[in-house]
Amino acid sequence: AKSLRGHEHSASFVVVANRLPVDRVQMPDGSTAWRTSPGGLVTALEPVLRKHGGAWIGWSGAPDEKIDPFDLDGIQLVPVPIHDQEVKEYYEGFSNATLWPLYHDVIATPEFHREWWDSYVAVNQRFAEYAATIAEEDGLVWVQDYQLQLVPQMLRDLRPDLRIGFFLHVPFPPVELFTQLPWRRRILEGLLGADIVGFQTTGAAQNFVRLVRQRVGSKTHRDTIYLDDGRTVVAKAFPISIDSSYFEDLARKPSTQARADEIRASLGNPKFVLLGVDRLDYTKGMPQRLRAFGELAQQGILDPADAVFVQVAPPSRERVDQYRRLRDEIDRIVGRINGDVGRIGQPPITYLHSSYPREEMAALYRAADVMVVTPLRDGMNLVAKEYVACRYEETGALVLSEFAGASAELKQAYLVNPYDINGMKATMLKAISDTPKEKAKRMRAMRRQVMEHDIDKWAQCFLEDLETVREPHGKRTRP
Ligand code: G6P
Repeated sequence: AKSLRGHEHSASFVVVANRLPVDRVQMPDGSTAWRTSPGGLVTALEPVLRKHGGAWIGWSGAPDEKIDPFDLDGIQLVPVPIHDQEVKEYYEGFSNATLWPLYHDVIATPEFHREWWDSYVAVNQRFAEYAATIAEEDGLVWVQDYQLQLVPQMLRDLRPDLRIGFFLHVPFPPVELFTQLPWRRRILEGLLGADIVGFQTTGAAQNFVRLVRQRVGSKTHRDTIYLDDGRTVVAKAFPISIDSSYFEDLARKPSTQARADEIRASLGNPKFVLLGVDRLDYTKGMPQRLRAFGELAQQGILDPADAVFVQVAPPSRERVDQYRRLRDEIDRIVGRINGDVGRIGQPPITYLHSSYPREEMAALYRAADVMVVTPLRDGMNLVAKEYVACRYEETGALVLSEFAGASAELKQAYLVNPYDINGMKATMLKAISDTPKEKAKRMRAMRRQVMEHDIDKWAQCFLEDLETVREPHGKRTRP
């Protein structure tokens, strides 16, 4: 990594993620600048990064860009170049057309291509080399998500002095599905390079431990894996969260409430607003959800003058085939339902294929009587938590899929099986018509969970565990 000259061993805490936590903004003079993107992860890690002179290694999102490391608000940002062919093979291919569907219950059929795998190995090696160059002696490195599962072991080979953590933001599949992967053993060994492998749920952590026992042959006891070289690896759940008080504060702003009122007025001031918010992804169960609502409207059970559905679906991974097909499918379903039961100026479904700033999202959450989150499989689902954080008056109702990681914490939601259309119809109706008292009881319990367990706590828990990892020779080091 030649371009890193001057940045060698410059950070005692390093985050490694596929994407940098910044967005490019156009300045009035035509030049471009960077602004931290409004994600929860960077918000949580910012203070830790700043305190340790930390670095974040990631991709800018554009192919073939060579950008020198730069500083943003006291954090070193280190761009990793990804070539056009690698964007196709490592990112769109192996990450998002092999691993993504495989890890989400094979809702779409994963494709296995050897060239994609080769590219995944090469890009993971590059990320590992960057991390090895940047990290200080005995430093702490935290690798994120399914795009970089080989980095922990690659990095350990280069830098055995480091403590390495890994967190998987998506589900980890059951043994029966994971073993389809021709490179299954390599992925497991890649992850085992970490001292701590974190998952969203205990189920996912157990899947991993069981696989390691069966496929790598290591001894395991509960959440601990004993490797042949004497090293131990801990695999356990660290359910991720959001900046809860940030969302509550946003929701409490008079301007947010004013915008929420405006949104409801634009919708014709219906009695009930139902809301869905998801990246346009086939894991999110949008067709099933829209069909369930559509049937309620078509059967006259919900009058489109009384109840409307707003679906916000920011574009995502648009060059991947399965995502293109999903977009067409959603267009068709929405068009069909609106054509069948809509009246002039009164479509039952408002569908928005774009992304919005957090202020607008908070207003939408305030405007929604029922939030409908029905993924077929989801690592966590932070939208569910954002809705809860915004409902400080303990009004509103959350319809939530059993197959979202969030359902393990938000047990008082109106839980549904998204494959059961009749069940979803009945539960949506119940969420609309339950008494305010019943809704408040549920919301209060969920709010206790979300407000207490925010993203800061998540990062703290993980990093505390990582800092106290025992080194192989019994030496206990601290940053
Ligand atoms: C999920 C993944 C993230 C990913 C995000 C957006 O939340 O867990 O790793 O960054 O989707 O997807 P994209 O492919 O645009 O980065």
